[in-house]
Amino acid sequence: MENTVILNNGVQIPKIGYGVYQIPSSETERCVTEALNVGYRLIDTAQCYGNERQVGKAFKKSGLARDEVFITTKLWGGRGYADTVRSIDSSLKVLDLDCIDLLLIHEPTGDYLEIYRAMEDAYKAGKLRSIGVANFLEDNFKRLTANCTIIPAVDQVETHIFRQQKNLRKLLREKGTVHQSWSPLACGRNGFFRNPILTKIGAKYGKTTAQVGLRFLYQQDIVIIPKSTHIERMRENLDILGFELTPDEMTELQALDMNRSLFGWW
Ligand SMILES: NC(=O)c1ccc[n+]([C@@H]2O[C@H](COP(=O)([O-])OP(=O)(O)OC[C@H]3O[C@@H](n4cnc5c(N)ncnc54)[C@H](OP(=O)(O)O)[C@@H]3O)[C@@H](O)[C@H]2O)c1
Repeated sequence: MENTVILNNGVQIPKIGYGVYQIPSSETERCVTEALNVGYRLIDTAQCYGNERQVGKAFKKSGLARDEVFITTKLWGGRGYADTVRSIDSSLKVLDLDCIDLLLIHEPTGDYLEIYRAMEDAYKAGKLRSIGVANFLEDNFKRLTANCTIIPAVDQVETHIFRQQKNLRKLLREKGTVHQSWSPLACGRNGFFRNPILTKIGAKYGKTTAQVGLRFLYQQDIVIIPKSTHIERMRENLDILGFELTPDEMTELQALDMNRSLFGWW
């Protein structure tokens, strides 16, 4: 796989992926098929998105080899060890895979130390190629890493120009955990697609606001998983390799950080 980041266990994860949150299950197979066709090699789903089955189907129909596509899913609503074991087996069945490339705890709720322990055992049993968390901010991340045996490979958190997660990012770097961004386009909130600084920088390179906002994260080795149901936007969001933001432009974009959530979840 090209253009990847190496996780703490040596597994490679593509730096740009495709997210399927809020894509209705009736649309998911078409969208994932198009995403794979235009070149995405990381698909990010979750149990609670209700479209794992369609992700698995699109992958199977693509004819791509299993090791060419990195599939992430996330556990939802787990309570403890035993139901996590069942939940992992259920995702494997629904996705129709022998092994999930990356399994995340979707949110730091329930007895997440026990949930994570079950994930560690499933990893050792070969059902998961890597394990990690999502929405674990500093306190929960510290509590987990003080009590686990396998350091999370990834923490997937809200990250975009308006919420840059600078403190968490430092902690993740210290622990060797890869920072992955959800909603890298801020899901269009706060006037993202009309932002004057993104527009100005984009005009210089002949790039869109979306491409500049994604490039800003990509250049910091933050793994991104933008979602679009439109094939031309899927292509646009992948096409961020042919230009490089200068240090001054990075600084200008760093100043847009509001250091708070635009979603109010975590
Ligand atoms: N772990 C978590 O708790 C969590 C939470 C949220 C998201 N996620 C993951 O992160 C992925 C991405 O986040 P997200 O879907 O919330 O938001 P996002 O990728 O930041 O933005 C998606 C929105 O932007 C639009 N869009 C995409 N590309 C565009 C472009 N080039 N120009 C103009 N509009 C564009 C899409 O519309 P169209 O579809 O109409 O093109 C959609 O409305 C999700 O799909 C999911 O896999 C994880």
